[in-house]
Amino acid sequence: MRKPVIVGNWKMNYTIPDALELVKRLKMMVSEVKGREIVLAPPFTALSSVSKALVGSNMTLAAQNFYWEDKGAFTGEVSAEMLLDAGCDYVIAGHSERRQLFAETDEGVNRKVRLALSSGLIPVVCVGETLAERESGETFSVIERQLTTSLRTVNISIPEDLVIAYEPVWAIGTGKTATPGQAQEVHSYIRGLLKKIFNDAADDIRILYGGSVKPENIDELMTEPDIDGALVGGASLKADLFARIVKFKVPEMAKDTEHYL
Ligand code: 13P
Repeated sequence: MRKPVIVGNWKMNYTIPDALELVKRLKMMVSEVKGREIVLAPPFTALSSVSKALVGSNMTLAAQNFYWEDKGAFTGEVSAEMLLDAGCDYVIAGHSERRQLFAETDEGVNRKVRLALSSGLIPVVCVGETLAERESGETFSVIERQLTTSLRTVNISIPEDLVIAYEPVWAIGTGKTATPGQAQEVHSYIRGLLKKIFNDAADDIRILYGGSVKPENIDELMTEPDIDGALVGGASLKADLFARIVKFKVPEMAKDTEHYL
């Protein structure tokens, strides 16, 4: 049983008033949604305010990043305990923008994943190949390296403790989405890797797709058997677009409809 998760990654956007306005609109638009997890990932500065605004709603909170040490002289960093204190349930780890712009490595992501889990945060572990890597036929080897290193010595007590996001770098913010078939091919490969690490629990680990997800492509993406939700960037900044994504429609019987009650 995999309950779909839709995560809105706001990246470096919105002051506190803007964030609260978006939450207010979303609360009106998605309050009836059931059987899906809706997660918002605002910037650090808005976490606490958004957390309070989400009380009693069907949405939960994620942070976009954190550091793997508990505390100390790490100027500019934020710890897992601080994220829990601000009301987070989830944290994104290893987003490609962090890998590309802030030199995050698979080893660093691994430390973050282990600390998130031991702290009680659910890591959303991002993997994905660049265009050059795809074109040179390295997609699977890149995904294998990123995933196996990021999950080295990782233990989970329940499959819902861990979420993976496949975000092909060439599809992020470019308007170019992977076709459902291209995404499913990699998702199924990821599920196979997860089986080697977590055995049967892998069947229940959610694997999200990210990269130019929008109202026009979410329904088709969600019909694929191993796509269990989405990590949404640009379209999560607009209440109407994000609400439509959250309310994705899959044709009856396309998937095990029990997941979508
Ligand atoms: P876009 O949806 O803007 O392509 O961003 C995807 C992403 O990076 C989500 O983490």
